[in-house]
Amino acid sequence: MGVRVDRLLDVASGVGTTARIFLDTLSSQKIPMPDVVCLDESVLSLCLTGQNLLEILPEEKMGLVCQRIQEATGLARMFPNKEPFDLATWGNGIHYLSPEDQRSALCNIRDNLRPGGFLGISTAFHQEAIPEETKPFYKAHISGAVRILREKGIERDKTVPSPEAARYRPASHYRELLSDVGFKVVSEESFLAMTTADFWRGLSDYDQYASGALHGYPLESAREVLVSAVDPAFEQCAVRGEDGQLGISRNWLSLFACRRS
Ligand SMILES: C[S@@+](CC[C@H](N)C(=O)[O-])C[C@H]1O[C@@H](n2cnc3c(N)ncnc32)[C@H](O)[C@@H]1O
Repeated sequence: MGVRVDRLLDVASGVGTTARIFLDTLSSQKIPMPDVVCLDESVLSLCLTGQNLLEILPEEKMGLVCQRIQEATGLARMFPNKEPFDLATWGNGIHYLSPEDQRSALCNIRDNLRPGGFLGISTAFHQEAIPEETKPFYKAHISGAVRILREKGIERDKTVPSPEAARYRPASHYRELLSDVGFKVVSEESFLAMTTADFWRGLSDYDQYASGALHGYPLESAREVLVSAVDPAFEQCAVRGEDGQLGISRNWLSLFACRRS
């Protein structure tokens, strides 16, 4: 898109995958590294982000912030040159927040971007994420996990409500929210990606996913049985992609928006 990025904010950095892809792309085109601030609510994630990015980014160009994005105001002011960001990225994380927190988070990101600065968000946890033909996989995965829990005599507490991560919202929700808080959506794409058994084991072991997929069960047990239930569900439902690998297809939504001045 030809945007100059001197300052990047990566929200919910996880292990730094989104920022790393961006920096690798700059590096392959011999473009100088920007200053990069990564924010995540998890200290462990930030440590892994730091290790990952230090392979490509000088330490003095990196800032790590442990905070919830919906509470993070004044991020740009926390760093030496106090300049707002040119680009913010928020990969695979917005769906974990309630709509109210999503709104506060997007306002914080907007306030830390320069007018005309860009924000990219992506999620594979929206209403249009699951192709019809892959639905048997989810049924097999969850019912397999619940079967193991029953065999272990672990009961579900039916009074526990489903958390935010289990409530999928349509793509239009994200589009409208961005527009409401002062962004102009400049592109929206949905692309089909093959997810592997490794991906599902990793996701199943992730607290926020497990607490949504098997809410009401003890979290440790939910994670453990979801991981164990991946292989049988894959054997039953996975299909071979173009590369010959077994997988389950899923739609990724990606929105790119510009801060209105
Ligand atoms: C699935 S990972 C996404 C990592 C990375 N952005 C990527 O695309 O691979 C989600 C991350 O969001 C973080 N997270 C969840 N809720 C958050 C919040 N309210 N504020 C900041 N980080 C949050 C979690 O700690 C986790 O590291």
